[in-house]
Amino acid sequence: MLHPGDPVVSTPVVAEAPDLREGHAAGQPVAAQPHVARNYDPLPVVIAEASGAWVTDVGGRRYLDCLAGYSALNFGHAHPVLVEAARHQLDRVTLTSRAFLHDQLEAFCAELAGLAGMDLVLPMNTGAEGVETAIKLSRKWGYDVKGVPADQANIIVAAGNFHGRTTTIVSFSTDPVARAGFGPFTPGFRVVPYDDPQAIADAVDDNTVAVLIEPIQGEAGVIVPQAGYLSAIREICSRRNVLFVADEIQSGLGRTGTTFACDREGVVPDVYVLGKALGGGIVPVSAVVSRADVLGVFTPGSHGSTFGGNPLACAVGRAVVGLLRTGEYQRRARELGEVMHARLTGLVGHGVVAVRTVGLWAGIDVDPALASGREVCERLAARGMLAKETHGSTIRLAPPLVISRTDLDWALDQLEGVFQELHAS
Ligand SMILES: Cc1ncc(COP(=O)(O)O)c(C=O)c1O
Repeated sequence: MLHPGDPVVSTPVVAEAPDLREGHAAGQPVAAQPHVARNYDPLPVVIAEASGAWVTDVGGRRYLDCLAGYSALNFGHAHPVLVEAARHQLDRVTLTSRAFLHDQLEAFCAELAGLAGMDLVLPMNTGAEGVETAIKLSRKWGYDVKGVPADQANIIVAAGNFHGRTTTIVSFSTDPVARAGFGPFTPGFRVVPYDDPQAIADAVDDNTVAVLIEPIQGEAGVIVPQAGYLSAIREICSRRNVLFVADEIQSGLGRTGTTFACDREGVVPDVYVLGKALGGGIVPVSAVVSRADVLGVFTPGSHGSTFGGNPLACAVGRAVVGLLRTGEYQRRARELGEVMHARLTGLVGHGVVAVRTVGLWAGIDVDPALASGREVCERLAARGMLAKETHGSTIRLAPPLVISRTDLDWALDQLEGVFQELHAS
């Protein structure tokens, strides 16, 4: 039996070969869900079970999951080490509130801080809460440490960002769909173009407390900045006494082939914001991770969350950190990512306008003259592969890092097959 903290020998969980590789019929058994608020437009696949890289719908059809919960399932569905950590903790204690201590909290914070090379961890639940925490942290650091006059702090963010859905976070979104109807908005943010260090340098003033950036913009379509962008942000922030806050909620924890996407440039930000895969696809776990001179500005009562850092979340989070410490998932992302990159670039000019990959993560821009991203995803689902479009014509692939080479090749066959179909129709 494996417990959190035990040395982890992780075996990729890969289901048997699918029974749907040929001629997966379109027209899924779709349950009408009339009581579900319509804030999403899901593909008509009703999932009942999942294991490793595969999910099974209510009709018993199997699909290869190439979205992986927007990278929340980096370790696949029901990874045995993570499930065992959760089960073990379920039988002990799941919630205490932070009014009391519990025996998983310090261990989780110490292990995660160790993974990130930082001192302190502030655990929350969802990614948006993590980002909100980082915004509050930056402002408080600005007033208490940097000496910014009260209520004058500004934070620099990038166009095309996605940091979550709270009213403050959508206040600095540049996506009209995310913002429309939700004003009035929170002031104190300056939006500059992404991948433009000079724009950041020009926007910084004496009241700037943070630059909040995704090292790779996931929701925008896996936008990978040019080499040197993160190093330039690091230099500007150090020179101007501004916090570099890296939102690694989607890019972090193995997806790009390194533990953090910032590692690709050897850059260490002042603050990491983590989420998604930190909860192993089992519980929502997010965290702000930083040095003591930064995260130390919070005092009792200045911030909190009933569920943040609960024993179940910490136990699963510890097991996630244990998996990442092996380096196996980062290595898989690098090696499988090379396979994916080589095959996807072969599609450019054949229905695909552009492809961006980093690790096991890809943004594929479909030629809008051929099909919408949605149509491609529907055709993929009909073949037994799940992916999701973003911004109309871009398809994001983020298979679980446990996917086998055979299954990845099969997924890429399906993608090629869909483009052949579209050309023929
Ligand atoms: C970079 C980034 N930040 C924040 C979030 C928000 O996370 P959550 O949906 O858990 O609130 C996301 C979600 O996609 C994200 O990709």
